[in-house]
Amino acid sequence: LRYEGGTQPLPLLTGTEGEHAFEVKTLLAAAGMTTLDPGFANTAACQSEITFIDGEAGILRYRGYPIQELAAGSSFLEVAYLVIHGELPEPGQLKEFSEQLQANAALPPELRAMLDAFPRNAHPMTLLASAVNTLGAFYADSTDPGDAEQVDRATMLLLAKLPTIAAHIYRNSIGEAPVAPDESLDYVENFLRMTFGELSGEAELDSLFVKALDLLLILHADHEQNCSTATVRVVGSSQASLYGSVSAGINALFGPLHGGANQAVLEMLEEIRGLGGDVDAFLAKVKDKQSKTRLMGFGHRVYKNFDPRSKEIKGLAAEILDRQENPDELFELALKLEGKALADSYFTDRKLYPNVDFYSGVIYRAMGFPTNMFTVLFAIGRLPGWIAHWREQRLDPAARIARPRQLYVGHAQRSYPG
Ligand code: MLT
Repeated sequence: LRYEGGTQPLPLLTGTEGEHAFEVKTLLAAAGMTTLDPGFANTAACQSEITFIDGEAGILRYRGYPIQELAAGSSFLEVAYLVIHGELPEPGQLKEFSEQLQANAALPPELRAMLDAFPRNAHPMTLLASAVNTLGAFYADSTDPGDAEQVDRATMLLLAKLPTIAAHIYRNSIGEAPVAPDESLDYVENFLRMTFGELSGEAELDSLFVKALDLLLILHADHEQNCSTATVRVVGSSQASLYGSVSAGINALFGPLHGGANQAVLEMLEEIRGLGGDVDAFLAKVKDKQSKTRLMGFGHRVYKNFDPRSKEIKGLAAEILDRQENPDELFELALKLEGKALADSYFTDRKLYPNVDFYSGVIYRAMGFPTNMFTVLFAIGRLPGWIAHWREQRLDPAARIARPRQLYVGHAQRSYPG
């Protein structure tokens, strides 16, 4: 038997009737034909209770709760608790959770020394992945994936220390002394203080930044089987530690096609600025297929309409722009570009609507983050999702080590030349 697209013989179909049925499916898939698998019951990479996405309807829910409602009523810490443990925390649980994170935010001096030894111009994501992996060396008593107490401790230590690591990396990159965590501040405000020392200096704008970052972290908390989360599950399936698995997820997120997308939006806006801010000229370039110019931050693999996350931050982006004394030109260009693209059927016919990356980059920039920190912020937001997926898999008694199937399309057996 030969399948149409290749040259390799497929294995002979033998076995019982049940196996035979399975092999026929494989044959059909190899031949480019498909079989119906309603609800992906047989072919989904995994089963999960964490996040539901309906890409057609633009629906995103964590543990059954629509993100719009979570964004309006909960803090990032409450959402992190929900994503990881499956239920929103009671007030007492939230207090305990938050106090534990505050009390464990500081880094061991040896880890700080390790971060200080890296080249200043290294990308923050490389350092973040290294530091998270290294937590397993400093907290070796929390690395056993089979011990529920150790897993809880690793969960808490990761959530407590990731923002401190991120802020330390940033301070080193600008040649400034790291700022120690302040136990009196909440999670997001503490991270912003550790990063910038002072924020804008204006109380109302400062609290808008805290609110904006809290919301952005909520919107990034999980997104089912994206590249980094699938990586965390695959690595975790070998019973690697939570630290090692999350470190692998950070490396997956680092790739420009995944977490680097909001940085690409900023680069595109710079290009438009280079065109004298002529948004129409840029959109014409996008429509000209020869130019290979892409409208970054528009469209999403799963959303066939608006990315529901982008709707949530659009208003915030405008609010921040309004509050700025010297409005950021790139920010204004972003809003203009969005308006023009949405009014143009060329883009809407192709389902090219702004996604979460379109606005997040401009908001981070307004807060003062350099572009190479954008993916780090994504990692802080996505941490609860990675942890939840790792734990879900660990608790599944039927879980097996991941081993994706491949279709061999290389040489058939060849005669060895020697
Ligand atoms: C994400 O949030 O992980 C991105 O939108 C990418 C994805 O879901 O594939």
